[in-house]
Amino acid sequence: MSNIYSPNMARVVEIRNETSDVKSFCFEFIDPELRQNFTWKAGQFLILSVFGVGEATFTFANPQTRKQFVECSIRKVGLVTEAIHELEVGDTVGIRGPYGNWFPFEEFKGKNLLFVAGGIGIAALRSPIEYSLDTRGDYGKITILYGARSPMDICYKDKIAEWQNTDNVEVALTVDRGNDEWQHRVGLIPVILKEMNPAAENTVAIICGPPIMIKFTLKALAELGFADDNIVTTLEMKMKCGLGKCGRCNIENLYICKDGPVFYYSQLKNLPEEY
Ligand SMILES: Cc1cc2nc3c(=O)[nH]c(=O)nc-3n(C[C@H](O)[C@H](O)[C@H](O)COP(=O)(O)OP(=O)(O)OC[C@H]3O[C@@H](n4cnc5c(N)ncnc54)[C@H](O)[C@@H]3O)c2cc1C
Ligand code: FES
Repeated sequence: MSNIYSPNMARVVEIRNETSDVKSFCFEFIDPELRQNFTWKAGQFLILSVFGVGEATFTFANPQTRKQFVECSIRKVGLVTEAIHELEVGDTVGIRGPYGNWFPFEEFKGKNLLFVAGGIGIAALRSPIEYSLDTRGDYGKITILYGARSPMDICYKDKIAEWQNTDNVEVALTVDRGNDEWQHRVGLIPVILKEMNPAAENTVAIICGPPIMIKFTLKALAELGFADDNIVTTLEMKMKCGLGKCGRCNIENLYICKDGPVFYYSQLKNLPEEY
């Protein structure tokens, strides 16, 4: 089985361009036993090493129910992510993990699920979305609201078409600025969410996105009647060890890498405003 303390060698087997600054990568472990047995749960993350450059943290974009490869969708923002964007099929990287907790799907059984994703936050919600589609009978209605800056910034166009064609799944797309071809909504996520007016009763809201989007989405959910215990989010902080040892990722007494990255809002509500 995987040793979470040291990187396991993996090969890039597929690269897809999602947008001008986001690419999805499929990795395959070189060790056949690991290829067969490596697993994770939707919401967990891994640390990816580009040899000679450094390492960075990414969420598993695909769920454990679709684990032919390890998949990550990566936005180019700095040193390591630029090096990852230069990778080609056949190149080798190191992967350690899985780390962190996961979305508590056992507790979601019998409930409606409302996913709200902003920007690259969709990478963190794709695995719980696909996991819930693969275990569809356990939940009620599934609603997905995904917003991006512009139509060119929408990731996973093929996946979205698949989700739209699934029974009892509603997908709403919105952008801050549309164009002539855009046939979906235009407007900020919290505003669109309130227009959609999802029933709060028996529904869990699962959100991920930039801090400003999370802040106003939480406000909109409260206005819609969602209880703090029915809101789940996943947090990002700069990480190093991934193991609760280096102290890089803590907020007050919470270590994002070890206690999270998935939290109920009731756990975060009393943290200082800057988080
Ligand atoms: C649990 C977790 C899951 C993540 N999942 C994904 C994912 O699926 N896809 C994805 O594209 N990114 C994801 N990230 C963010 C990703 O780790 C950073 O973008 C990456 O570490 C940047 O590395 P870099 O060397 O390219 O950038 P650097 O050169 O280190 O920094 C570039 C800029 O980004 C800022 N920055 C770097 N890392 C972070 C961070 N974690 N949070 C906020 N700001 C940061 C720096 O302060 C700097 O301004 C995740 C982060 C965490 C903690
Ligand atoms: S990343 Fe080291 S303590 Fe969390």
